[in-house]
Amino acid sequence: MASRRGILITGTDTGVGKTTVAVGLARVLADEGWDLGVMKAVETGWPRDRGAWPADAALLREAARSPDPPEWVVPWIFEEPLAPFVAARREGLSSLREKIVSAFANIAEHHSFTLVEGAGGLSVGIQGEGPHLLDYADLALDLDLPLLIVGRAHLGTLNHCFLTEHYARTRGCRVLGFVLNGLDPSRGDPSVRENPALIAERSGVPVWGVLPQVEPAPTVETAAALIRDHFDLGAFCRAVDLPGPTSGDGP
Ligand SMILES: Nc1ncnc2c1ncn2[C@@H]1O[C@H](COP(=O)(O)OP(=O)(O)OP(=O)(O)O)[C@@H](O)[C@H]1O
Ligand SMILES: [Mg+2]
Repeated sequence: MASRRGILITGTDTGVGKTTVAVGLARVLADEGWDLGVMKAVETGWPRDRGAWPADAALLREAARSPDPPEWVVPWIFEEPLAPFVAARREGLSSLREKIVSAFANIAEHHSFTLVEGAGGLSVGIQGEGPHLLDYADLALDLDLPLLIVGRAHLGTLNHCFLTEHYARTRGCRVLGFVLNGLDPSRGDPSVRENPALIAERSGVPVWGVLPQVEPAPTVETAAALIRDHFDLGAFCRAVDLPGPTSGDGP
């Protein structure tokens, strides 16, 4: 049975749509009455003088209507747009894990279910170096969270999705589902028709949705509409063992 505590939303790359999916899902689940926590464990590329709420964390918090303080939702913020372990090293920090784990424990204590957004892809380092790098797969294991993988909808995604799922599996992480993002029919890419089925077939993991490219870029409301219209919320709820969208009452 899947963990009742939450899910880590990872991706096949940076910029692939993790925040968009997490934000859409958070708003839809919050509207369903779920008591949701949200977390962006490490956010980089955010100068401190721009405020306590960096972009991804601010969107997640708004979407979930989370009352939690920034030190829980985004325990680490780094100025430079780098992988967490690199940004941390450049600021002379070597250990990020403890603060993330205790922030998550606080959130999990106050909410029934928590959406955690990764950074970049699953093998991106959080702390350490070389073969001793602690990455987002380690964090998923530490927090006992299964994974939702966000990939791109277009040509090239089979390889990226399979590599991410394969890495997750070899590290002992549970992958519950995929979402493909950014489908743009005007590109005339014939791969998009078969990509979801091929990914599911090879990995044995369901693809819960293919989200279209929209213009302008998604807000909380339009990200929620993408999830409502293009994502199998019922299958997601069953996979995380929580009441589905038709049950009328959240956890
Ligand atoms: N379906 C979509 N249609 C239009 N724009 C999108 C869509 N999905 C994402 N975007 C835009 O693409 C950019 C990257 O998306 P997003 O921030 O969700 O990616 P990410 O995987 O969270 O990135 P990061 O690794 O930086 O956290 C954002 O500007 C977002 O608004
Ligand atoms: Mg993001």
